[in-house]
Amino acid sequence: MKIGKEDILKEGFVNAEIEKGINLRDEILKLKKEKNAVILAHFYQDGEIQDIADHIGDSLQLARIAAKAEADIILFAGVHFMAETAKILNPNRTVIIPDLNAGCSLADSCPPDEFEKFVNEHPDHVVVSYVNTTAKIKALTDIICTSSNALEIINDLPEDQKILFGPDRNLGNYIKTQTGREDMVIWDGACHVHEEFSLEAILDLKKEHPNAKVLVHPECEKPIRIIADHIGSTSALLNYSKTDSCNEFIIATESGIIHQMKKASPDKLFIPAPPKDSTCGCNDCNFMKVITLEKIYNSLKYELPVINMDEDLRLQAKKSIDAMLEISDRLKIK
Ligand code: 13P
Ligand code: SF4
Repeated sequence: MKIGKEDILKEGFVNAEIEKGINLRDEILKLKKEKNAVILAHFYQDGEIQDIADHIGDSLQLARIAAKAEADIILFAGVHFMAETAKILNPNRTVIIPDLNAGCSLADSCPPDEFEKFVNEHPDHVVVSYVNTTAKIKALTDIICTSSNALEIINDLPEDQKILFGPDRNLGNYIKTQTGREDMVIWDGACHVHEEFSLEAILDLKKEHPNAKVLVHPECEKPIRIIADHIGSTSALLNYSKTDSCNEFIIATESGIIHQMKKASPDKLFIPAPPKDSTCGCNDCNFMKVITLEKIYNSLKYELPVINMDEDLRLQAKKSIDAMLEISDRLKIK
C-alpha cells in the first residue's frame, strides 16, 4: 500500500521513524543547507531549537524576517498564526511548521463569525488586532499590531478615532490605560499562559529576592502588571534584562525567553514567575512546546506540513499586516 501525505500527517506532524544514532542537530543543519531552507524560531521555543535557528525573535521581528526571506523553504518553529503570517507576507516560499497542533489559546478565543459580528456592531471604529489571530481575523482588521508596537500604533491614530481592539483583553486594557484612549472597545479574549501567573507566589518570591526586578509581558492580568518594574514584548524584556544594572529578575512571560536572557547575561539570575497551578512549576506554552527537534528534522526531510492559504483571504489579511509594517517602519520601531 502506498503511503500518502494524508497518512503521514494524520496526527498533524510527520511521525516517521528517525534513524537510530543520528545527531539530530547536525542532520537538521545538513538538510537546511541541502534544501535551501531557513529556520525562524520564536523566543518561546526550547533552547535547543533556538540554538539551531537562523533567526530568533519576537512576533514583529520574525514577521519582518519572514517577509524578506529568500530561501526556498521557511521552517517556522513557533505557533500556527506565526507561520501563517510568514505565508501571507511571502507567498512564493514554501512555509512549513513542524506540527500543525501548535495553536494558540489567544487566537482560539476569537472565532471569526463572532468577531465579524462585533466589528459590524461598531461601524465607525478602526479595527486593530493583535498578531495572535487567524488569517480570517486579520482579514477583518484594519491594522495588526504586536506587543512591540501596540502602543505606538494606537498613538498614531487621530485622538478622536474610535478603536476596536482584539483579541487580548489584557493587552487592550494595558493600552487603554497607557494611552488614555477612552473610545476603545475590547474583545474579551486571553492567553492561558499569561493569565496563569500567581500574584501571591510572585510576592513570596520577592520576599526571598528583595532586589529582583519583575519583568512582565502585557498579556498578563492587571494585578501582575501593577507590580511590574518593566512591561514589554519579549524582545523588550530581553533588552531590559541586558541593559539594566540589576542582577536578579523574575520573568512573567513564557519561560523560553529565559534561554536568551541567560545567554546574554550569564552572571545574572532569572527566575520564572510561578503560575497559579502547574505541575511543572514553570510557564511553558504547551502549543509552543509541541515543536521538537525530532519534528523539525522530519518536517524538513519530508517538507511537510505545508501552510497553504486561499489567495483572496491572503490578500485581504495582508492589508492589515502591511499597515502595521508601514507604521512600524515609519516610526522606526525595532
Ligand atoms: P511577542 O509579540 O512578544 O513575541 O509575543 C508573542 C506571544 O505569543 C505572546 O504570548
Ligand atoms: Fe498563544 Fe499564549 Fe502560547 Fe503566546 S503564550 S502562543 S499567546 S497560547
